[in-house]
Amino acid sequence: MIKIYEAKDYQEMSRKAANILSAQIILKPDCVLGLATGSTPIGTYDQLVEWYEKGDLDFSKVKTVNLDEYRGLERTNDQSYYYFMHEHLFDRVNIDPANTNVPDGTEPDAEKECERYERLIDSMGGVDIQLLGLGHNGHIGFNEPAASFAQKTHCVDLTESTIEANKRFFASADDVPRQAYTMGIGTIMRAKKILLVVNGEAKADIVAKAFFGPVTPEVPASILQFHNDVVVIGDSAALSKVPR
Ligand code: F6R
Repeated sequence: MIKIYEAKDYQEMSRKAANILSAQIILKPDCVLGLATGSTPIGTYDQLVEWYEKGDLDFSKVKTVNLDEYRGLERTNDQSYYYFMHEHLFDRVNIDPANTNVPDGTEPDAEKECERYERLIDSMGGVDIQLLGLGHNGHIGFNEPAASFAQKTHCVDLTESTIEANKRFFASADDVPRQAYTMGIGTIMRAKKILLVVNGEAKADIVAKAFFGPVTPEVPASILQFHNDVVVIGDSAALSKVPR
């Protein structure tokens, strides 16, 4: 079941999302957080850091697993998702780096790394709450529109639209890696709760399609309609095409 909450702007969206994540951390200090990168959750991480600095949040027992990582980027590359997570969250709170996990994009053996990652999530007891952003084409993690839903962590070829959307972070589109390791749709669906954040008018069409259209692997996020505990927090612009 999907519950949709409207926030008036990006800041309010971020604060509401951070509230939900912090409630999870307070209720279960050793919870497993599934985390996302991209521009949408940056404000959520900033808010969590602010509450940590005020003494309201303790990450010392929290464990994390990230959704995805570009294949072939070194951790020291400032476009790697490993780097992103350290910059926006891990290096700013008292989380134990040993408790944080991002797929290893430098492992050339894709099958080995994806298998390791999937087993790791299982061994942690699964994800308590998975934070997601939404791609313009409906992707979640790097699960691009496809003929079927991928079950497990796997290696994907990024679509032109994703390369186009992500090139803003690289010197040019040619520098965007062509592949990534990502949790599968099945991996994401096994999370106990899902929290999806989305903002901006450019996402309004895909929000309406994903949550009010047919469930199809051509719109990967549409599968969330079959999860029993999904919260979507969108700003007014992103929710502007949701049927009322
Ligand atoms: C990030 C991820 C992606 C993004 C999506 C939206 O780890 O898996 O699915 O959530 O591409 O990205 P932004 O927030 O930059 O619009």
